[in-house]
Formats: sequence, C-alpha cells, structure tokens
Amino acid sequence: MTVKEVCTVNNIINGDSIELIKKMDSECIHLILSDIPYGIGVEDWDVLHSNTNTAYLGTSPAQEKAGAVFKKRGKPLNGWSEADRLIPKQYYDWVSTWASEWYRVLKPGASAFVFAGRRLAHRAICAFEDVGFTYKDMIAWEKERAAHRAQRISVVFERRDDTDSANKWIGWKVGNLRPTFEPILWFTKPYRIGGTIADNVLQNGVGAYNESILSNYQQEPNNILRVQAQRKDSGLHPTQKPLALMELLIELTTTKDQVVFDPFCGSGTTLVAALKLGRKYIGIEKEQVYFQAAKKRLEEEANLLKNTLF
Ligand SMILES: C[S@@+](CC[C@H](N)C(=O)[O-])C[C@H]1O[C@@H](n2cnc3c(N)ncnc32)[C@H](O)[C@@H]1O
Repeated sequence: MTVKEVCTVNNIINGDSIELIKKMDSECIHLILSDIPYGIGVEDWDVLHSNTNTAYLGTSPAQEKAGAVFKKRGKPLNGWSEADRLIPKQYYDWVSTWASEWYRVLKPGASAFVFAGRRLAHRAICAFEDVGFTYKDMIAWEKERAAHRAQRISVVFERRDDTDSANKWIGWKVGNLRPTFEPILWFTKPYRIGGTIADNVLQNGVGAYNESILSNYQQEPNNILRVQAQRKDSGLHPTQKPLALMELLIELTTTKDQVVFDPFCGSGTTLVAALKLGRKYIGIEKEQVYFQAAKKRLEEEANLLKNTLF
C-alpha cells in the first residue's frame, strides 16, 4: 500500500493500522477518534495474545465448569499468576507501539479521543503522555443500561450446604459495581512553542472546542455525556458505539471538511458520523467482517446524503 493510498480521504482500508499509519503523512489529521481494543481479551481481535494467562481468549477451569454463561466475561483476574500481573504493563507496551505515530500524524493542537476500558485506561494515559500528548480530561460516557454479572457469594455457600455462612453473607457480591460509565480519554497534541493557542486555531483549524453544539445532544454542557444507544446502534460489532456519541465528539472538536481518522474503526461508527457531518474520514480495520460492515454502512450513508441533496 502506498503513502497516497493510506492518506486518501473518505477511504476505509482493510489492514493493520499499527503498520499502515507509518506510511501516513505527518500532521494531516484534525482529529483521531477511536475505540481502541481494551486489552481485556474478551474477543479474538483484542490484544495481548502473547500473555500466557490460561483463560486469555479461552476459559479458566472455573469458567469451564460453569459452562457457556461465563465465556464472555474475559479473564478472571485473581492476581495469582505472573501472567495476570504482566497484563497492565503489556497493555502499556502495546499502546506505546503506535501512540507516537498518532502524535506524528495529528496537526498541532489537535485532539485524540480514546475509548479505553476502565481497567487499563491508566496505562493508555501513561503511554500517550510518554510520547508527548497532553492528557486533557477523562470524559464519562454514562449509559442507562449496563450488564452486571457480579456473583452473589451467599449462593456459593448455599451450594456447599453451609447455611450459616449463606445467611451471614446475604447481599454480598464478588465482582464490580454495575459498570454504567465508560471513560473517554481526551488528549491533545501540544501546539507549537512560541505561538498561542489562538494562533494555532488560525493556522491549523484546531485547538478549541465548540461548547455550543452540546445543547444539540444533552442539557448540561459538562464532561458527563449522556448520549444513549438506539436500536440501530447494535448488531454490527460487539463493541459498537452509538452514532450520536461519535457525532458529538466530532462536532465538539472539528469543523466541516476537516479530517477524522479512526485506526481501529470496527464497523465504522466514527467514519459514518464524520461523513454525516461533512467531515472527511480515514478508517483502518483489521478484521475483514467488520471492514465489510463498515464499507456497507458508509455506502448507505453516502446514498442517503445524495438523496437528501437532490
Ligand atoms: C473496540 S473495536 C471498535 C468498534 C467500533 N467502535 C464500532 O462502533 O464498531 C476495535 C477494533 O479494532 C480492530 N483492530 C484490532 N487491532 C487492529 C489493528 N492492528 N489494526 C486495525 N484494526 C485493529 C478490531 O478488529 C476491532 O474491530
């Protein structure tokens, strides 16, 4: 693939973004908006495949025993094994393999929004900071609904016929509280030394944010985003994000015709949002099935826009 092909706007590529981004021109992107793999091993396309935790992408003995119910829970982390303890560092190392390239392709003052899992987000933050990004804020995306799988400990004691313990521990659970928010990490590439942010806005078209658009999406202009998923926001990817949420983030930081890049684009939600809002887009997705889904969505959106114009 040539430099020209990778830098062509309004384009989605089926390939490995960690390699392909190296062929992109420097400072050609106004916003990176990406829902990166969280490093929690729930799906085949997630990362850290060299980690030797037996449950990674497979099932632990406990999961095996429990059957299919627990298959999608990700690795059980009990901290017993060296492999468990290596996960956060390995995730940091993985993010570090491409964060400097994100930095290079962004325009000075530009933003990068990163959806990262609650468990390893801190490692992503450190990796981004270490290549030069300014960590600006952690935005919360608050969801109305979230699956909650914490196990009641009293049930375990009941199964053991230990009625005293079962009664004593009624109401106690093992696991996490209901996960109703997801962090969206907001980074910016520093603008040039000696200038001001206002100069940068004039030179590069980025560096400020458009607070007024927030009222199109929610009541309060704060950093808790309450955009909810609609029925059409599911079915194409296991971690598909709401289209309106991506639209909000794009409108917040870019103007028309600017270039939005998603290097881990899945079913293309970021790209469809960009197209809908009159921004240019570049997307990369490794898995053929999601690449095809994204391509189809983009074609449908382009047709819809054409029909609305004429
Ligand atoms: C969290 S999902 C993104 C889902 C997306 N937000 C959506 O709404 O459909 C991350 C995607 O990154 C892809 N991916 C993982 N490693 C990649 C790589 N090196 N290059 C390109 N895509 C990659 C995965 O296949 C997965 O589809």
